[in-house]
Amino acid sequence: MSALLKSDVKPNAIDEAYYQQLGGWAGIEKVHIVFYDMLFAHPWLKGFFEGKDKALLVSQQTDFMASILGGPKRYYGREPGPAHCHMFITEEVFDVRHQMLGDAMERVRLAPELRAPWLKRDWAMKRALVKTSVDQCVGRYKMEPIIAPPKP
Ligand code: HEM
Repeated sequence: MSALLKSDVKPNAIDEAYYQQLGGWAGIEKVHIVFYDMLFAHPWLKGFFEGKDKALLVSQQTDFMASILGGPKRYYGREPGPAHCHMFITEEVFDVRHQMLGDAMERVRLAPELRAPWLKRDWAMKRALVKTSVDQCVGRYKMEPIIAPPKP
């Protein structure tokens, strides 16, 4: 039995005990399954995900987050900046998505005291992803289209 009580989790405390309290990989995946259902259904944000494989994204996102939430390093894909360089992610887009992540945690009833460390790590990606002009977008390969869904 871990001596660490759930109520002891502080926003900065990320270690293996925290990862275990989340329910490990399966616990993070559970949130992401609901989260990506919401993203793919959102009137604005769904425009980013057209033609994408939801199950694959859930799995990549879970590997990535597990690696920064105290779990094993299994993610070998692109870092968030280069992975999203062709997407016009405005601050508002980022904020809508971030809020939705919190809503997904709520929907799966993730213990409230476990949410803040995860949300803090998610929030920390903001600077790497947000662009102020569509001109800042570049394709990941030659001729890759820029994705900039208009706000409905
Ligand atoms: C904390 C914020 C975010 C994290 C940690 C994150 C993480 C990831 C990861 C790990 C991948 C897979 C990368 C790859 O295959 O190269 C990915 C892909 C993707 N992300 Fe994000 N993401 C974030 C924010 C966003 C936002 C705000 C959007 C747009 C609303 C977005 C849309 C996408 C899309 C459409 C893909 C698929 C790219 C493709 O396969 O072509 N992401 N994301």
